[in-house]
Amino acid sequence: MTPTITKAVIPAAGLGTRFLPATKAMPKEMLPVVDKPAIQYVVEEAVHAGLHDVLMITGRNKAALENHFDRMYELESTLEAKGDSEKLAKVEYPTDLADVHYVRQGDPLGLGHAVLRAQMHVGDEPFAVLLGDDIIDPRDPLLERMIAVQGERDTTVVALLEVPPSQTHLYGIATVEQTDEDDVVRITGLVEKPPQGEAPSNLAIIGRYVLKPGIFSILERTEPGKGGEIQLTDALLEMANDPTAGGVHGVVFRGRRYDTGDRLDYIKAIVQLAVERDDLGPDLRPWLREFASSLD
Ligand code: UTP
Repeated sequence: MTPTITKAVIPAAGLGTRFLPATKAMPKEMLPVVDKPAIQYVVEEAVHAGLHDVLMITGRNKAALENHFDRMYELESTLEAKGDSEKLAKVEYPTDLADVHYVRQGDPLGLGHAVLRAQMHVGDEPFAVLLGDDIIDPRDPLLERMIAVQGERDTTVVALLEVPPSQTHLYGIATVEQTDEDDVVRITGLVEKPPQGEAPSNLAIIGRYVLKPGIFSILERTEPGKGGEIQLTDALLEMANDPTAGGVHGVVFRGRRYDTGDRLDYIKAIVQLAVERDDLGPDLRPWLREFASSLD
């Protein structure tokens, strides 16, 4: 079956309270990861998977996001006048990356509520959701695999990652059954951020989803759950339990993922990505070794 998915939805309307005050006047999706805002990595990933139609769900401070994917004439002409074509290319690149649309969430009532705002734009077709908190290494494609599984099984697909038991309370955790494919499981249960020691498995949902449009009618009636927010996980559980909805499957991701969702993981993500870069790695690696040994 040919995948029909063309649209990516990127929720970016959260308050980003863990990063205050940096996120006082800027969405957390605009925080730089080395020298690119987190959201640019995510848009690049969507485009790489063939999704050129990107809908961002925005909240307060959306101007920074819109400006990043728009022309910046003054800066461009200054760089042009200087003959700095390398920097000019960096400024121009995000503008032509994708066909970017925006819709407001209004009140940030939760990820499920943010996804519901995509209904009009998405219509009656499967679509991808990508969260800026997770950066997936382009060398380990995940979204392409999820789109393929969605097409083959006509199901809803989430990305799963094995996490240590000490971290299960930070994620939506899945109960699963094996399928005939090594990296694909069928989801039979889901619980959002279970208390420590009560997780049904160590398979955590990370920020990539390929959803069937039936999710919208479920989200319309999903009551606020954990943290008083309308949780996408709760709607997915209903979908998993409804045989007519095609079920929910998980693709178990075993590649490189950089978590930028909280402060410590964000710092680690920047270091991990920077040490591998040709322009920064050669100087950063020896410095890092020396710095690390000085900590002892
Ligand atoms: P998070 O819970 O990680 O984001 O939501 P947050 O609420 O902004 O973070 P903290 O805890 O206050 O620091 C995951 C994703 O869902 C989006 C966020 O922007 C983030 O990309 N989101 C969350 C929305 O778009 N709307 C919401 O109401 C909630």
